[in-house]
Amino acid sequence: MKSFFFGLSCIAALFNSIAAADSNLTKPLSSKQILPANFKPPQVFSISKLERHVNLEKVYPKQTWEATVKNVDKEPQTELYIPFESDVISRIGGFQAYEKGIKSKLYETDVVEYDTESSTEFYKITLREPLAPKAEKTLVVKYHILSALRPLPELIEQMSSQHVQHTLSAYAPSSYPVITQSTIITFPSSRITDYTVLPDSVEPSKSARKLTYGPYKDVPAGAEEPISVRYEFTFPLTHASLLERDIEVSHWGGNVAFEDRFWLSNRAAGLQDHFSRVKWQMAQYANPPTTALKDMRIPLRPGSADAYFTDDIGNVSTSRFRSNSREAELWLKPRYPLFGKWNYSFKIGWNGDAANFLRKSTSGDGYVLKVPFLEGPKLAEGLEYERVELRVILPEGSRNIKFDTTVPLVGNDTSIHRTFMDTLGRPTLSLTALNLVDELRDTELIVTYDYAWGSAYRKPITISVAAFAVFTAAWFIGSLDVSIGKKVQKA
Ligand SMILES: *[C@@H]1O[C@H](CO)[C@@H](O)[C@H](O)[C@H]1NC(C)=O
Ligand SMILES: *[C@@H]1O[C@H](CO)[C@@H](O)[C@H](O)[C@H]1NC(C)=O
Ligand SMILES: *[C@@H]1O[C@H](CO)[C@@H](O)[C@H](O)[C@H]1NC(C)=O
Ligand SMILES: *[C@@H]1O[C@H](CO)[C@@H](O)[C@H](O)[C@H]1NC(C)=O
Repeated sequence: MKSFFFGLSCIAALFNSIAAADSNLTKPLSSKQILPANFKPPQVFSISKLERHVNLEKVYPKQTWEATVKNVDKEPQTELYIPFESDVISRIGGFQAYEKGIKSKLYETDVVEYDTESSTEFYKITLREPLAPKAEKTLVVKYHILSALRPLPELIEQMSSQHVQHTLSAYAPSSYPVITQSTIITFPSSRITDYTVLPDSVEPSKSARKLTYGPYKDVPAGAEEPISVRYEFTFPLTHASLLERDIEVSHWGGNVAFEDRFWLSNRAAGLQDHFSRVKWQMAQYANPPTTALKDMRIPLRPGSADAYFTDDIGNVSTSRFRSNSREAELWLKPRYPLFGKWNYSFKIGWNGDAANFLRKSTSGDGYVLKVPFLEGPKLAEGLEYERVELRVILPEGSRNIKFDTTVPLVGNDTSIHRTFMDTLGRPTLSLTALNLVDELRDTELIVTYDYAWGSAYRKPITISVAAFAVFTAAWFIGSLDVSIGKKVQKA
C-alpha cells in the first residue's frame, strides 16, 4: 500500500515537472532521440568530395554543402550522422537534407544526443531508400545558425562602422572520413578585415567577396580546425528572443484577426558614449549605414485592415499603414532608434477577410484555413527568431483539428481557450518552433477542422439568452418592493 502511494506521488511529481518545463521560457524545448551512451556513428560511409558554402550576407550565417557519400560497408545503409557541438546544435535552424536535384523530397532528419554529458550531438539523416554497398549518392545539406556573429569591438561610436566576427571550423563537421573538401565563404562586401591562416596549409584564396579554404585532402572523421573571419557589417543584429503570434478565426464575423507580440533585441555593438539625438538627426539627411534599427517594413496580405502598433507606453503614432486591394504594408518606426544592446518589445495586429484565408472543403462540415506561419518585419540584413509560439484560435464547436506545415516544430498541442460569453470555449492549436529566420516569412500553415453550421449561431444565441436573462432579472428585481422606508413605516 505504501509503495502504491509512493508510486502515485512519483507520478504526480513527474507530471508537475513536465508542466513546469512547459511554461519555462529559459529552458528551450527540443525534440531529441537519446542514443545509448557508447554510441559512435557506424563507420559505413566515406565522403569522396565535399564542397561547403558559408554565406555571411545575413545576420544568421547559412551553410550549404554538397557531399558525395559512398557506402563502404557490406550491407545497404540508410542512416547518416552529422556531428555538432551541443552549443552549436541548439542554435541551428532550418536543417534540411535532400538528394542533389530533388529538393522537393526532403529526407527525414532528427536531432540525436548520444550522451547527455557529452558535448557532441548529431543530426541524423534517414535516406529514402537504402544505399547499396559501393554505391554513391550526392546529398545537399542546408542549415542556418543563430547568435553566430560577435561585434568586435563590442563598443563603437554612434555613427561609426561595425565589424563582426564569425568562428567556424575549416573542415565541415563529418562523422566519416572526407577524401577532398573545401569551404567557400561569401561575405556581404569585399571589406574582409581579418581571417585565420592555418599553419602548414595553403593560404585561403581571396577574390572580391569570397574566401576559399582548402582543398584539404584525407580529413579524418570528426576532425575540427577552428578559424575566424572578421568583416565589416554595419547593420543592426536584430534578434527576436520570442514571438507570440495569435491567429483568431471568426466565422460569425467573417474575420481572421492576427496579433504578433515581439521581444526584440539589437545585438550589434553597443554605444561607446551616450546616445546623441542631435548627432543622429544631423546624420539622417545623408542616411548613412548604421547599426541602429530605425524602422521596419511589414508587408501584409492584400485587404488587411485595422492595423495597430503598441509598445509598453501605448499607441505608437509614428507608424504608417497602407492597404488597398493589391497590397498592404505596415511601416513601423519605434519611438527611438534601437542601438546595439537595446531591447524593444511591442505588439502589432490587423484584421484579414476570412474569404482570403478560409475555404469550405467540398465534403461535409470541413474547413481549410491557409495562413502564413510567420509574417513580421522584412529587413535587408535579416532577422532571427529564437522561439516562435503560434496559436490558432478556432471558433467554438470546431472539431477534428489537423495541421500541416514545412516549418520544423518542436511542440504542438490542442487545448480550449475561453473568452467572454463562450459556452464551450474555443479549440486552440498551439505550435512551437525554434531558431527560425525571416526567410521563412510566408511559409504556409494549413489547418483543417470540422465546424457544424449550427455552431455559428451558438455565440449570438448565448448572448441573446444572457441578455434576456439580465433583463428579466432586472425587471423582476425592479418589481420587488424592497424599499427600506416602507418596512420602517410598518414596524
Ligand atoms: C526556469 O528554469 C530555470 C532553470 O532551469 C530556473 O532557474 C527558473 O527559475 C525557471 N523559471 C520559471 C518561471 O519556472
Ligand atoms: C494610433 O496611431 C495611429 C497613427 O499611426 C493613429 O492613426 C491612430 O488614430 C492612433 N490610435 C489611437 C487609439 O490613438
Ligand atoms: C535585453 O534582453 C535580454 C534578454 O532577451 C537581457 O538579457 C538583457 O539584459 C536585456 N537588456 C536590457 C538593456 O534590458
Ligand atoms: C505533434 O506532437 C506529437 C506529440 O505530442 C507528435 O507525436 C507529432 O508528431 C507532432 N506533430 C507534428 C506535425 O509535429
